[in-house]
Amino acid sequence: MNMSRRTWLKFLAAALAALLTWPLAALETAPGANAIASAHPDATAAGREVLEAGGNAFDAAVAVAAALAVVEPYSSGLGGGAFFLLHRAADGAEHFIDARETAPAAATADMFLDEHGEFVRERSLNGGLAAGIPGLPAALVHLAHQYGKLDLARSLAPAIRLAREGFETGPRYAMMAGYRAAALRASGTADAVFLVDGEAPAPGTRIVQPDLAATLASIAADDAESFYRGEIAQRLVAGANAAGGIWSLDDLATYEVRERPPIVGRYHDIRVVSAPPPSSGGIVLLEALNILERYDLAALDEATRLHVVIEAMRRAYRDRADFLGDPDFTDIPVAHLIDKDYADWLARDLTLDHATPSSSLPPVGAKPEGRDTTHFSVIDAAGNRVAATLSINTPFGSTVMPPGTGVVLNNEMDDFSAAPLTPNTYGLVGAGANSVAPHKRPLSSMTPTFVEGPTRIGILGTPGGSRIISMVLIGVLEFAAGKPPTDWVAAPRYHHQYLPDVVQYEAGGLSAELAAALTARGHTLSEVGRNYGNMQAILWDRASGKVEAASDPRGEGGADVWP
Ligand code: GLY
Repeated sequence: MNMSRRTWLKFLAAALAALLTWPLAALETAPGANAIASAHPDATAAGREVLEAGGNAFDAAVAVAAALAVVEPYSSGLGGGAFFLLHRAADGAEHFIDARETAPAAATADMFLDEHGEFVRERSLNGGLAAGIPGLPAALVHLAHQYGKLDLARSLAPAIRLAREGFETGPRYAMMAGYRAAALRASGTADAVFLVDGEAPAPGTRIVQPDLAATLASIAADDAESFYRGEIAQRLVAGANAAGGIWSLDDLATYEVRERPPIVGRYHDIRVVSAPPPSSGGIVLLEALNILERYDLAALDEATRLHVVIEAMRRAYRDRADFLGDPDFTDIPVAHLIDKDYADWLARDLTLDHATPSSSLPPVGAKPEGRDTTHFSVIDAAGNRVAATLSINTPFGSTVMPPGTGVVLNNEMDDFSAAPLTPNTYGLVGAGANSVAPHKRPLSSMTPTFVEGPTRIGILGTPGGSRIISMVLIGVLEFAAGKPPTDWVAAPRYHHQYLPDVVQYEAGGLSAELAAALTARGHTLSEVGRNYGNMQAILWDRASGKVEAASDPRGEGGADVWP
């Protein structure tokens, strides 16, 4: 779609403003320092080990992703999927690796409905039917071969060691294992690995995973050949199907990662690069930013600013429900959705003093998608960058662990729309674009993102199911306001996803005064039980040469910067 005259004028004005404010000092072309922020200090250390062994950011991404599969078994893993957003310093190229799970060939649109057509949530959350065909092992091979400098085996070595020798659990592990203890007990395999006497272990317990170490070693030795086409594939299919699944050997043998062009847009003088479908992240993020660009947010009082951001979220998440799904199955009008003129139309009924009821927005044709998931960010001294969000969906995924693999299978099938306008585990609704079909990828909210201002470059992302996009939006707004990454990851969180028509906010996220001001405008507020998200962020300031990394204070992550 051609840029409209108005869009051109805005673009030229932003470019002129950027030129006028350009610092006289030359900008750095490479950070000269390395940084990693991940949800677990052992995973951050794994990435550092590989960078110090001569690897680049992409080798570090392999090491961090594999280590997270071991030390955060509730968040991501070899039985799940991932999105990797890459920036290669040598040629400035940006790549997006889609390693999302796919539905098995035997999947059907009504597989999660009972004989009365009612959605049976248990089927899409626990057991073999909930599991899509995993993509992470294929992504690790792809990353190492296409982008890395080191052998896959070298990058996987820290994870293999952590699985073989064990890692120490913390309070977050105890919370996740406690939350899923009943399902883990029912799995028959995973409980022996992750629980002690059938209960969540106390912090400080050592978890050793010899089967997972052997599966990782096999991937290192044969580039995941056994995982997708050999003995491990046979165990995975047998284990998934013994737990009620519908997997075939062919489902694994034909799995492929896809490279897709990232979503790129602008917010004032900031270039935003983010996740394309089958993630909804980049499109929803840019739709919201395009609406917000119409306002001088810094000039608004806090309550009005929050109101406007909430209204932008509402409208962008509505489009998620209506238009988004796997691009290999659904035509998505991407250019239209992220066009500035379309944002004007979306905001035509946005007033500063009243909430717009979601019921007054155009209805969604028919539904869309983990509380868990994980994110990490990497930059190396040369300027290669990675923003990666990985998932097995809800904590410990489907809790199915095929015997002899150490692999926890995801429950990402719940991210499909099981039936029109039927909310999934995140309360998200969707339409036909995200219905279940063989080999299709379920719509995701994972939003690994780069932001590039005139002098500052940011890398960010977070877990958090449907709230991922609103958290990244708040993080981008903090970046745009010139704040450091410690502020992006710590900023109080609030969220609106169109339906249900409520503003969710984390405990302590809204002062009584702000809550009253939003209620007076007609918003219904709902405090969610505990704080949410686990953002991992990096900032490279090309003017000062400073590199900073920050882990969400709500988590137990590790942020490291070194020369
Ligand atoms: N399972 C979380 C997501 O992909 O959005």
